[in-house]
Amino acid sequence: MLKADNVYKSYGGLDVLKGVNLSIDKGEVVSIVGASGAGKSTLLHILGTLDTPDSGMIMLNGIKMSSLPQKKMSQFRNEQIGFIFQFHNLFPEFTALENVCIPAFIKGNKQAKKRAGELLDILGLSGRYDHKPSELSGGEQQRVSVARALINDPSIVFADEPSGNLDSQSADDLHQLFFDLRKDMGQTFVIVTHNMELAGMADRKLEIKDGVITI
Ligand SMILES: Nc1ncnc2c1ncn2[C@@H]1O[C@H](COP(=O)(O)OP(=O)(O)OP(=O)(O)O)[C@@H](O)[C@H]1O
Ligand SMILES: [Mg+2]
Repeated sequence: MLKADNVYKSYGGLDVLKGVNLSIDKGEVVSIVGASGAGKSTLLHILGTLDTPDSGMIMLNGIKMSSLPQKKMSQFRNEQIGFIFQFHNLFPEFTALENVCIPAFIKGNKQAKKRAGELLDILGLSGRYDHKPSELSGGEQQRVSVARALINDPSIVFADEPSGNLDSQSADDLHQLFFDLRKDMGQTFVIVTHNMELAGMADRKLEIKDGVITI
């Protein structure tokens, strides 16, 4: 489903990615580990079309990302790719339900509220639809961002240290959630993490070192 072929990226003379190759199948949970500064977030942003490689190719669902014009790329990203970040990036002035709906509204899906409610229920947030992010715990906020990532039924979800900001119980719960969602919905996840327990739970653990994937 996702393929990266010989991806290079440097920032002002600093070579971060030096020929990354990987291939991810539908329904896989893949973890990416590596030292701080190794290029994990850089790679995730490139795989998720938030950033472009200097050279090399990213292909998702048989479509070469560099072949899409900017507007098509934004649409493709909104509909096919979900993101979960370390800091949830929820809109503070919107409720949990509204935050989850945003990517669906952008797509023009007016039925989003029903699906957003279902997702929040699945994620254990039934009583929290109308809470603003500031009225939710860290773990709850992160689960709202998981629901938001899933609302358009994306092909793949990228998570960059999703539990980096959570206590260990909330982190464990979130990790379990990823595997439940894979089991129940066949959802594909690529997760950057410093949490070795999570990394080890994945179907495959990839390590970035010296600009390439070493395992
Ligand atoms: N926009 C940018 N401009 C210049 N340098 C950058 C930029 N983004 C990242 N870098 C550099 O690229 C390297 C890789 O950064 P990246 O954020 O991918 O690391 P990481 O593996 O995610 O680290 P961490 O585990 O600390 O999050 C770092 O040395 C960083 O300083
Ligand atoms: Mg990072």
